[in-house]
Amino acid sequence: MIYQVEGLSKSYGAYKVLDQVCLEVFPRSSVAIMGPSGSGKSTLLHCLGGVDRADQGSLLFEGNNLQQMGEEAIASLRRERIASIFQFFYLLPTLTVSENIAFPLMMQDHTAAERNERVQEMMQAVAMDHRAQAYPNQLSGGEQQRVAIARALIMRPSVVLADEPTGNLDRKNGESILELMQQLITRQSSTLILVTHSKEAAAVCRSLWFMEDGQLHS
Ligand SMILES: Nc1ncnc2c1ncn2[C@@H]1O[C@H](COP(=O)(O)OP(=O)(O)OP(=O)(O)O)[C@@H](O)[C@H]1O
Ligand SMILES: [Mg+2]
Repeated sequence: MIYQVEGLSKSYGAYKVLDQVCLEVFPRSSVAIMGPSGSGKSTLLHCLGGVDRADQGSLLFEGNNLQQMGEEAIASLRRERIASIFQFFYLLPTLTVSENIAFPLMMQDHTAAERNERVQEMMQAVAMDHRAQAYPNQLSGGEQQRVAIARALIMRPSVVLADEPTGNLDRKNGESILELMQQLITRQSSTLILVTHSKEAAAVCRSLWFMEDGQLHS
């Protein structure tokens, strides 16, 4: 099981952002989460990714209870098992395309040759090998998101958490980015959890869940 979540709740003051969320996510599955603005989708993804903590409930990721783990142990899971893709790409502006993609591998134990081979392979997979030496500000939005996808997948994570990855792209680019993301995630036998406002985007996933007032409905 990738995730097993029970009774996950989180409040800001009297405001309940997550209200008894329960979910199960199986390996190699893909789930889209839709719902109104402010319903708690990003907060849930932050909890699933270990960057935020809920106040109550249990959250198991591959059997590890993220609610009770220390920061160091969570950081290590985030380096190796959990990847994130965002609406605003968040590439490192002073690093080139190939350096951005290589970045997650720098904290792992690879030889330079292995690292270069994996970076080359990922750049080809997202069709950015011809721009290896370019900097993020020299790329279009769609190109930046392809680099961000390569960076997310290079460590072969067990889960990819994507928060409106096409929210900042036009429709045509958004469609091709989603198709690429889905194809690479399937090829790597990873699991996808996709938050989106778009029905078309949600359709690339096998299951669809709805978030409303902090409650998750399948
Ligand atoms: N740090 C915070 N302090 C107080 N309130 C917060 C904080 N973070 C989020 N919230 C509130 O929690 C609610 C849920 O936010 P969240 O970002 O999870 O919504 P969302 O479903 O992702 O919305 P959107 O579709 O607009 O991205 C919102 O009302 C938001 O204002
Ligand atoms: Mg959000």
